[in-house]
Parts: sequence; C-alpha cells; structure tokens
Amino acid sequence: MKETVVSGIRPTGKLHLGNYFGAVANFVKMQHDYNCYFFIADLHSLTTHPTPSDLHGYVKHILVEYLACGINPEETTIYVQSDVPEVAELYLYLNMNAYLGELERSASFKDKIRSHPDNVNAGLLTYPTLMAADILIHRATKVPVGKDQEQHLEMTRTFSNRFNRLYNNDFFPEAQAYNFSQNLVKIPGLDGSGKMSKSSGDGNCIYLSDSPEVIRKKISRAVTDGGPAEENQAKPEAIQNLFDLMKIVSTPDTLTHFDELYSKMSIRYGDFKKQLAEDMIVFNTPIREKIEDLSKDTVYLRQVAKHGALKARESAHKTIKAVREIIGFKSF
Ligand code: TYM
Repeated sequence: MKETVVSGIRPTGKLHLGNYFGAVANFVKMQHDYNCYFFIADLHSLTTHPTPSDLHGYVKHILVEYLACGINPEETTIYVQSDVPEVAELYLYLNMNAYLGELERSASFKDKIRSHPDNVNAGLLTYPTLMAADILIHRATKVPVGKDQEQHLEMTRTFSNRFNRLYNNDFFPEAQAYNFSQNLVKIPGLDGSGKMSKSSGDGNCIYLSDSPEVIRKKISRAVTDGGPAEENQAKPEAIQNLFDLMKIVSTPDTLTHFDELYSKMSIRYGDFKKQLAEDMIVFNTPIREKIEDLSKDTVYLRQVAKHGALKARESAHKTIKAVREIIGFKSF
C-alpha cells in the first residue's frame, strides 16, 4: 500500500517561486510513489472575504498552475476543497476538541490579528482545525509544505492524537511536514527581508506566470546595498536572499562564480542581477507557456476538477463514515 500524501494551496492570487519550491515541486516529485491528494484550499481563503469573481478566478489560476507545473491528474487526485463537503463535517468534529488557548497561540493567528485587527473572525481562529481536517480526511501521513506551515502540522498531530485518545483507538495516523530535500524550505522575497509572500506585495514575488520583461524589472529593483566592505565578509540578509534565489534557479558554477566575486569584493550587482533574471526566465518560461495554453482549455479544466472531486469524495466518504461510527452517530 502506498503512503498517502495531502497538501493544498490557498487561492489568493498567482503562484510564486515560494509556493513552487516550498510545495508544488514536491507534489510533482511525490506523485509517482505516493497516493496523492492535492487540492485548492478555497474554504481557507474565505477568511479574507474575497469577492465571488476574484475567488473563482484564483481557483482557476491554481488549477491551471498545478497542471502547468506537471501534476498529472491521472496519477494524482487534484480537487477543489469546497467540492468535498466531508472536509467541513470533519472540521466541525475536530473543533469540538480544539481549545481556545492553543488556537490563540498559533503564530499565524497572532500574525493575522496584528495585520488585520479589523477582521479577527472565527474562521481565522480555527484555521488550524480546517487544515487538520484537510489532512485527516484522507488519513495522510506526509504533507509537502514550506517551513511556515510547520506549526500547523504540529497542531494537526495534536488534534489527531487527541481524537484517538478520546475515543480510545488509533484511527488517525500522525502526519508529518515533508520536503524532498530533507529540510523544509523558506524561499526569500526580493524586498530584502523575510520570505517571498503575496502579502508583502507583487514586487516581493516572482510569479510562475511573470513574463521575461516583468522578471527583469522586478529583479533589477530587488534590494541590495553598497557592496561588500571587506574581503570574505558575511553577506547581509538582502544579499544572501538573492544568492539563495540564485541557488534554486542557476547552475552551481554560476553561483560559485558570483560567490567568489563577492568574497573578492569585485561583484557588480548589475551583472549579478542580470544573470539571476535570465536564469529565472529560463526556469519559468516552459511553465508560463503551459499556463497560457491551459488557461484557454475550459473543457479540460472542468473535466479535471470533476474527476478529482469524485475521487476525493470517495476517499473522504470512507473516513467520515468511520468517524461517525467512532463518535457514536449510528443509524437506526
Ligand atoms: P499558502 O497558500 O500560504 O502557501 C502554499 C504553500 O506554499 C508554501 N510557501 C512557501 N514555501 C517556501 N517559501 C516561501 N516563501 C513560501 N510561501 C509559501 C507554503 O508553506 C505552503 O506549503 N495553510 C496552507 C494551505 C493549506 C494546506 C492544507 C497545506 C490548507 N490546508 C493542508 C497543507 C495541508 C497555506 O496557507 O498555504
């Protein structure tokens, strides 16, 4: 029996390199060896109240991008979260055993109340239980995600272990965050600090669908400094971030070349950025072209989403049926 893998992405915009290297690249690699469920987390995105047309457009974007990146819908189950109502049912059950204190302590909740103090809704508070429901609905053991999701996975384990203890069984397995390269990754953005993230603005992100002109412009505006002040000095964060980006899209030789120039204080950031931009363009061009083609094929997209929903519901139904029995909802 193949191990089960689940992961998802919130449809809040287009996919960027952080989403790709933190999550989707792993989806593509895992699809041959695992029983995979990759979904579009549209229920999660309701916490920020998107308009109906934005929401639909973003869901379509992610579906297209999953396919353009090479996820094969014949081999894996690709689905839209809201097409599987069993997820919402499991979310309800898990919420009964999720405590206010632990939900309030979640780093992402604290972040959100800081950045959106005017919209601290119950969906934000219970975001980790919905995420646990996503994972446990297929009883997954591996969850390919970026470093920022580590705490959510810990909470998923807390909820599943608590459910098992409460009902004195071992129905839910323990799910672990996963990355092919062993360590979970955090891809930096272009603004000199932190991670690549939509919430830090478009200028901080390189999207998979960005054209070569847009990539050149964004990279040329990326934050740098006045250059190294002494030989072999450690790189400040903004510079290290750009080197980290080069590491994922350029050849090892290119990276070593610029690293040596930096150490010898002879680096010219203009040349460095030009090379980085061109290597990013080489990386994303085939994906961007597929995105453009697939976006037009509404019939195919509908077929993929429909087929995925059927397969996901089949698995979800089995879990919910068993959970209902365990809880004591028995039919007369
Ligand atoms: P979301 O939509 O914020 O991000 C989707 C995935 O992209 C990863 N990611 C990154 N990885 C590395 N570096 C970055 N700069 C970067 N930015 C984003 C995230 O870690 C994530 O893997 N809660 C999830 C969606 C979700 C989910 C789930 C994931 C809902 N239910 C169940 C796994 C299992 C989220 O908001 O991801």
